[in-house]
Amino acid sequence: MTGHPLIGVMHVIDRAEPMLGRRRAGLGTIRLRPGPRPVTLTRMSELSPQEHVDARILAYYGSEFDEGDRLVGRSGQGVLEFERTQQIVGEHVPAGSRIIDIGGASGLHAAALAERGDTVVLIDPVPRHVEAACRYGTFTAKLGDARSLPVDDDSFDAAMLLGPLYHLFDRRDRLRAWGEAIRVVRPGGWVFAAGISRLSAVAWVTVIGPSIELATSGKATPSSPYPEKWRRLIEEGSGGLGHGGFPGGHFHLADDLEEEALAAGLHDVRVIGIEGPGAQAIEISRSHDPLLIAAARTLAGAFESQPGLRDLSPHLLAMGRTPGG
Ligand SMILES: C[S@@+](CC[C@H](N)C(=O)[O-])C[C@H]1O[C@@H](n2cnc3c(N)ncnc32)[C@H](O)[C@@H]1O
Repeated sequence: MTGHPLIGVMHVIDRAEPMLGRRRAGLGTIRLRPGPRPVTLTRMSELSPQEHVDARILAYYGSEFDEGDRLVGRSGQGVLEFERTQQIVGEHVPAGSRIIDIGGASGLHAAALAERGDTVVLIDPVPRHVEAACRYGTFTAKLGDARSLPVDDDSFDAAMLLGPLYHLFDRRDRLRAWGEAIRVVRPGGWVFAAGISRLSAVAWVTVIGPSIELATSGKATPSSPYPEKWRRLIEEGSGGLGHGGFPGGHFHLADDLEEEALAAGLHDVRVIGIEGPGAQAIEISRSHDPLLIAAARTLAGAFESQPGLRDLSPHLLAMGRTPGG
């Protein structure tokens, strides 16, 4: 398992997560399971920002959040995201291609591509995701990390990197993930990479999330309208390092994502908004109304490339060709 940075962190989380609940009690050591000797723990506060995010990913997707439901069950926003992503990939990559789905979770995209005749390999660091993906039986699913892919050079026609980038805090890690996707795709093949729009993330944490919380639980909004963690998110795109919720690493502006794709070495780069400016409302209302979804789809298509407006999509999609084709 060495060479997979996130998998390596499993050992840290095994020791660090129990510490979260006990730090208040001032415990420095804890007996993890019945055995003769207490084990000294690594505190979460001693982890680097990325180790912290990696540790949270395993907990968040492993037990706290059902990623398998997000694109099909939670709201029409997920349906729109799924359909538009499949459509865009399908327009660029012919059926019958070899595709790697990096951060492919429980395999919804991979299964749809396998269905149209592609040979798909899914990579994800979360065992629960890989176990669910294996159950389809129509494609290969393996544990792995976007920063160090367990596959040979030039072995695919296209790579999908729909998830890892927004879980990677540091630009160097994101460029490693981009570089790995480019390495495993043949010259002239396609790389598709998703970011979470910073504008959409900022709207969620500053106004939407607190409004929903206030309406549902009556809890007060934060005492400052502009706490430090929001400043870092708005100005730098940095994910929060809290103990709960979505383990965000970095939230992109469309220009920012485009610059990363070019810095990684892709050609013919384009960044579009996936779900468009109407999707946030559908997500908040948890609506599945087909008319609303159709209206949001029309908006998404009309403004997908428009500077400024593309940033209003919850997700951004960068695409480009690998060099040498
Ligand atoms: C929000 S989900 C997106 C899943 C799916 N690709 C989609 O587009 O709906 C993010 C996925 O990225 C995976 N992930 C997080 N960090 C990763 C990393 N360093 N390498 C590979 N996958 C990672 C997570 O386990 C999760 O399955």
